[in-house]
Amino acid sequence: MKKVMIMGVGPGFGLALAQKFGEQGNTIVLVARNSGRLTEYQEELAENEIKASCHAVDVTKHEQVQQLFQDESEVDTLIYNVGNTALDDPLTSSLDDIKATFETNVLGCIDACQQFVNTKRPQTILVTGGGAALHPSALTTTLSLTKAALRSYVLSLHDVLKEKGIYVGLLTIQGIADVGAAMQPIKVANAYVEAAQQRNNAEIFYPNNQGSKLSEFEQLQQLAKDPKTVEKVLKNHPEFAKYLDYFKN
Ligand SMILES: NC(=O)c1ccc[n+]([C@@H]2O[C@H](COP(=O)([O-])OP(=O)(O)OC[C@H]3O[C@@H](n4cnc5c(N)ncnc54)[C@H](OP(=O)(O)O)[C@@H]3O)[C@@H](O)[C@H]2O)c1
Repeated sequence: MKKVMIMGVGPGFGLALAQKFGEQGNTIVLVARNSGRLTEYQEELAENEIKASCHAVDVTKHEQVQQLFQDESEVDTLIYNVGNTALDDPLTSSLDDIKATFETNVLGCIDACQQFVNTKRPQTILVTGGGAALHPSALTTTLSLTKAALRSYVLSLHDVLKEKGIYVGLLTIQGIADVGAAMQPIKVANAYVEAAQQRNNAEIFYPNNQGSKLSEFEQLQQLAKDPKTVEKVLKNHPEFAKYLDYFKN
């Protein structure tokens, strides 16, 4: 039985990834900061006969990540799914907020990958990227900049680890979770399972296997025209509410 660690488990893609990789017969290691929520996810997975352990870890704290890989030294697949998707703009974001997002979206991944490759049996690393990496735009300033940096790191890592037989794949997810059939978390999670089986492409674009013409910002603008969709998006991303008027223009 193989072990899959998912760093960044919440109600969106994280839990769906746990479900999908669990269904494939893997044991799951759930990682996020909120231990209460992790226990709930662990119980939910157990109802579907999926074995999972959980670790309350903040990926921006090096010592906590070190301890995690000491406690879980026999993981085959690492999935880095943590991401701060808060919207902001180029002029008013504080340096402290930008640094914090960099730590979460980029440095946390670098730290985890460096430590994972020194464990007993690293085979596969999958990282959740975003379409914002390819489409910088005003309200996704820090998201775009950090996802672009993350993309750059993961593509470099792919080349280096390929020589050692470790597969690294970047999943560039271009859309808003739960909006439209293709963006149902469980469908998105299928793309990760396929990537882990195929072990070839450095970057997998989801959906449609190609870079999207629309930025996530433009997608949000289109979505804002439909009140029902707005309600759905705000349920998952309440932080978008303050930008609603901007999208409607
Ligand atoms: N949601 C979208 O529409 C969308 C679209 C494209 C790409 N993405 C990318 O997909 C990934 C997952 O997004 P999601 O919205 O589906 O999230 P999710 O799987 O629902 O949850 C991710 C979890 O990461 C945890 N986390 C955040 N900061 C952390 C930290 N410092 N240390 C440890 N855990 C941390 C949070 O739980 P705790 O608070 O318990 O730590 C959060 O619930 C992200 O990389 C995001 O950029 C999302």
